[in-house]
Amino acid sequence: MSVQAKNIVILISGTGSNMAAIVRAAERGQWARRHHAQVAAVISNKADAAGLGFAKEHGIATVVVDHKAFDTREAFDTALAADIDRHQPSLVVLSGFMRILTPGFVAHYADRLINIHPSLLPAFTGLNTHQRAIDAGCRFAGCTVHRVTSELDHGEYLDQAVVPVLPNDTAATLAARVLTQEHLIYPRAVERLIAG
Ligand code: GRF
Repeated sequence: MSVQAKNIVILISGTGSNMAAIVRAAERGQWARRHHAQVAAVISNKADAAGLGFAKEHGIATVVVDHKAFDTREAFDTALAADIDRHQPSLVVLSGFMRILTPGFVAHYADRLINIHPSLLPAFTGLNTHQRAIDAGCRFAGCTVHRVTSELDHGEYLDQAVVPVLPNDTAATLAARVLTQEHLIYPRAVERLIAG
């Protein structure tokens, strides 16, 4: 790929199913040819993140930056940024990346950093979104792709999808229903940004 290629770097901590959805969309949609864009690297803070195997199988560079090896959040974020910046990314995609990022890190990637959150923001920032939606009696739940700012789960909303909450839902069944929508809207939002 040419030097002007728009590189996407994806950060994961676990399964990486959203990452896989983006990689598959890039392959199927020929983002390299149509947008001069590629998923250049997948970086995990956990060595045993299942998604690393998928990335390798798809010929994508993988890196592990173990947060436990660093004394402070700042030191971890500095090391993480060094690995990300090696790819000169146009877009950094948080995909189930379970670390709170420092304001310095977020500022460094201003306008290039996005996340997907499994709720209809601004409802239910933080963790356990599905159980909290059920407990609150919500009839609808969903997911939100948003730009990342230093305030957790805030930042401009780029896309949302809605699913019903069904009478016998558990957090697990609702999470699965929401995840199918995440896999549709996250690749779509990434493509819109890199194509624009
Ligand atoms: C997704 O529900 C995402 O919204 C949340 O963490 C989960 C990650 O799933 N931030 P995966 O690793 O992409 O499969």
